[in-house]
Amino acid sequence: MTPFDRLIAIAQEAGSLFLEGYHAQKEITYKSDIDLVTQYDVAVEEKLKGLLGSTFPEYTLIGEESSDDHTFPEKAIYIDPIDGTTNFVHGIPFCAISIGIWEAQRPVAGVVYNPVLEELFYAEAGKGATLNGEPIHVDDADTLTRSLLATGFPYTKIEKGKDYEWVMQSMGNLLPLTRDIRRLGSAAIDLCYVARGTFSGFYEINLKPWDVAAGILMVQEAGGTVSRADGKPYTLDERIIVANNGKIHDDLVLNLA
Ligand code: IPD
Ligand code: CA
Ligand code: CA
Repeated sequence: MTPFDRLIAIAQEAGSLFLEGYHAQKEITYKSDIDLVTQYDVAVEEKLKGLLGSTFPEYTLIGEESSDDHTFPEKAIYIDPIDGTTNFVHGIPFCAISIGIWEAQRPVAGVVYNPVLEELFYAEAGKGATLNGEPIHVDDADTLTRSLLATGFPYTKIEKGKDYEWVMQSMGNLLPLTRDIRRLGSAAIDLCYVARGTFSGFYEINLKPWDVAAGILMVQEAGGTVSRADGKPYTLDERIIVANNGKIHDDLVLNLA
């Protein structure tokens, strides 16, 4: 048994607290006027850090609620205790725990667990991606017209600055060309849904390492592609992420602002 085998059990253990919180009254504090945090974001992260710390002592733990760390250590575990907090608060069931393990700037294992819908995505480098233990693969749409895309809107949109303009222009370009565009509210789940072929592609600006560290591996192991806006390989300090089934990659990148 390798330490990675513990990853699913760790996500499930913290998932009980997540699920309790989903159905409970929440205390809300604000990182900005629209960026919410609940006591469960903090508590689930604490729980995950305790469990991961004892299983993976040689890795640096970087969690959304407790790290100002924007470096990228050789061995790192990026933790988002609740990806999709706005959904979590509003009772919309697209929210998940995301844990991504990286070594030498590459993803080696990841889990995205949505306890509300009981969907557990897991991937290990070179071993494929699974949903609840069953292998998953990207879809085979080869044109934008046949593609259902997903995207997200950055919290910086309230400033109506460059991020907002990029969102509006990219959507303006892509919306008429595609089957449609969804905004589910959890980047980790969006990436997993590309991996399982629900979406043919996903793009977003201003995500953080904990949002994508697990989902990137899910897409790659399911046969898809993850890149920057210019098509070059994605790194965790990038501003724009583009993930897709590989077949619509060039058309998708071409139409981003
Ligand atoms: C957010 C979600 C959302 C994305 C935001 C993220 P949070 O994470 O992934 O889909 O559009 O940019 O910050 O704040 O719910 O952990
Ligand atoms: Ca997040
Ligand atoms: Ca979060």
